[in-house]
Amino acid sequence: MKCVVCKGPAIIDIRRHNANFCTDHFLEQCRRQVTKAIAEFSMIEPDDKVLVAVSGGKDSLAVWDLLVGLGYQADGLYIGLGIGDYSDVSGVYARDFATERGLRLIEVDLPETYGYDIPTGSRAARRAPCSACGLSKRHLFDRAALEGGYDVLVTGHNLDDEAAVLFGNTLHWHTEYLGRQLPVLPARDGFPRKVKPLVRLTERETAAYCVVRGIDYLVEECPMAAGNRHLTYKAALNDIEAASPGAKHSFYFGFLDRAAAHFAPEAEADRADLGACRTCGAPTTAEVCAFCRLVERAGGSVPEGRAPDAVSVDLGPTRSPSTAAGADPDEPASIGVGSDR
Ligand code: AMP
Ligand code: FES
Ligand code: ZN
Ligand code: ZN
Repeated sequence: MKCVVCKGPAIIDIRRHNANFCTDHFLEQCRRQVTKAIAEFSMIEPDDKVLVAVSGGKDSLAVWDLLVGLGYQADGLYIGLGIGDYSDVSGVYARDFATERGLRLIEVDLPETYGYDIPTGSRAARRAPCSACGLSKRHLFDRAALEGGYDVLVTGHNLDDEAAVLFGNTLHWHTEYLGRQLPVLPARDGFPRKVKPLVRLTERETAAYCVVRGIDYLVEECPMAAGNRHLTYKAALNDIEAASPGAKHSFYFGFLDRAAAHFAPEAEADRADLGACRTCGAPTTAEVCAFCRLVERAGGSVPEGRAPDAVSVDLGPTRSPSTAAGADPDEPASIGVGSDR
């Protein structure tokens, strides 16, 4: 197996590009794909202050490393979710990555600050854990980005994530979610801009990138995600991809090119009538936002000083297993904890 660029020994084959790469040219390929995604969707300006949400897993550490390597000023944000050992260990990976590279990592601990953890919150709200988790993370991502004066919030969603969420939403014709399943959500109504620079890379590639770059990441998946429909969709798409390389890419990018705009009016209508949450000030269509209702049901509390109009939150369905609360139609319906955007 030879590198398509230099004919040296290749370390990876990427079938959808019909190409093999050596170490150096694989790294260059990853940088090129990220640069292309950023340019194609106007994700990040050179002087933007960037906040990368890092979980300690391969995707978010890879995207942080790539953005820093490309010259962006990027800090990290880690949320401690209180999912037992899994959270303890994931925090160590995020912290070690930042410390070793002299990068700034902002940390928010859900149990410490809000008085509940994901297992408790999910039981109390009678929501699937990934749904309570996604709701909490989105709220805390938005708050941290706005309070820290960041221009843009980055997540590590990759092509596999995006294709799988699209697959789920299409399978069930969740048209209200399809109009906003985009690699960029512009800043609006107090929400920060949110971007996914890894949409042109698969998780196999982000894992290989970490190995090549010597990035230690948490390999285990979240224990609460077992049995999640999202994983079934991923497996189905992997089977299709094996038989038809490039299928995932053309499914997702074909949707962006040719279908997403048709669903935009419905997504837009959904966002009308946003007011401020009575408790925390986040944009919501209800009197109290979904996050504050979750906190209350879980027996926690929103800390003082989070005055209305101080911050904002995106509670709408997005595009990954746990950051996609409400986007996965197979999740049990929530009781009293809806999504606001
Ligand atoms: P998930 O929703 O778990 O698939 O994660 C999607 C993205 O959300 C990751 O690539 C990260 O960018 C971000 N993320 C997930 N978990 C955390 C966390 N505990 N703290 C900060 N960011 C996270
Ligand atoms: Fe949120 Fe698993 S990381 S439920
Ligand atoms: Zn090469
Ligand atoms: Zn609120």
